[in-house]
Amino acid sequence: MAKKVKMNVADNKSVISENSDFALSEAFKAIRTNLTFALPNNLKCKKLLFTSAYPGEGKTTVSTNTAITIAQTEAKVLLIDADLRKPKIHTKFGIENRVGLSNVLSGMINVDDAIIPSGRLNLWVMTAGVIPPNPAELLSSEKMKETIEALEERFDYIIVDTSPINLVSDALDISSIVNGVVLVIKFKSSTHPATKEALSKLEFVNANVLGIIMNNVTVAKDTYYKRKKGRYGYAGKYGYGYGYGYGYGYSQKNSSDDASK
Ligand SMILES: Nc1ncnc2c1ncn2[C@@H]1O[C@H](COP(=O)(O)OP(=O)(O)O)[C@@H](O)[C@H]1O
Ligand SMILES: [Mg+2]
Repeated sequence: MAKKVKMNVADNKSVISENSDFALSEAFKAIRTNLTFALPNNLKCKKLLFTSAYPGEGKTTVSTNTAITIAQTEAKVLLIDADLRKPKIHTKFGIENRVGLSNVLSGMINVDDAIIPSGRLNLWVMTAGVIPPNPAELLSSEKMKETIEALEERFDYIIVDTSPINLVSDALDISSIVNGVVLVIKFKSSTHPATKEALSKLEFVNANVLGIIMNNVTVAKDTYYKRKKGRYGYAGKYGYGYGYGYGYGYSQKNSSDDASK
């Protein structure tokens, strides 16, 4: 496995840590529980893909925090940056994106050389690697399938962060090699038509959509925890707008109905 390379700039303010707000950590624990139960227990490795309709809705942030929260259960987790167009996973851990998935897929390096310790217990990262001219081609290749098959032997969970599906087909191409897909939407920003379009694209390729996570939910200042135990709640350092919510109102049968509500 490759050595961890530290970098100075890290976009890790949105990443869960020991000092994170209680409600934020709890929201991701609930997401962890829901996702764990959404998949059959007999899977040797649970493979989850995170996507959204458009950029900036929180795919990278939510997939990173989900991976961190699952790794806290002592499961061995690999977080893969399969957004070969706008890779960001490395910024969440302050590591360099020197080599990664694209280099593995183009045969330049072995899969083991692309597995980097994240700095957190039980969590490893595969950065996107050099931005290739042909991301869709690489991601839909047989080599991608083989790579995931090889990684399945080494991890309990594989979490894949991807590009926005209403813009490019990359995530749709990989959806068949994972066990489930999670759609991230952004509170007060993602629109019904965009969400419906994203869901119908996933439905068209028969993706196993496990649910929708609503990111950036504003949580009331005077929450239960705030009232009961003054140190929790949202008056803390993260302020408003840093909440996470999740909703599982979507099922494949009535996707359009639910998305339009
Ligand atoms: N709930 C949140 N609270 C605060 N900042 C957030 C939240 N979700 C995302 N961000 C920030 O918004 C930006 C876009 O999020 P990101 O996860 O990169 O979106 P995507 O991967 O869908 O393009 C990043 O700078 C990220 O740190
Ligand atoms: Mg992203």
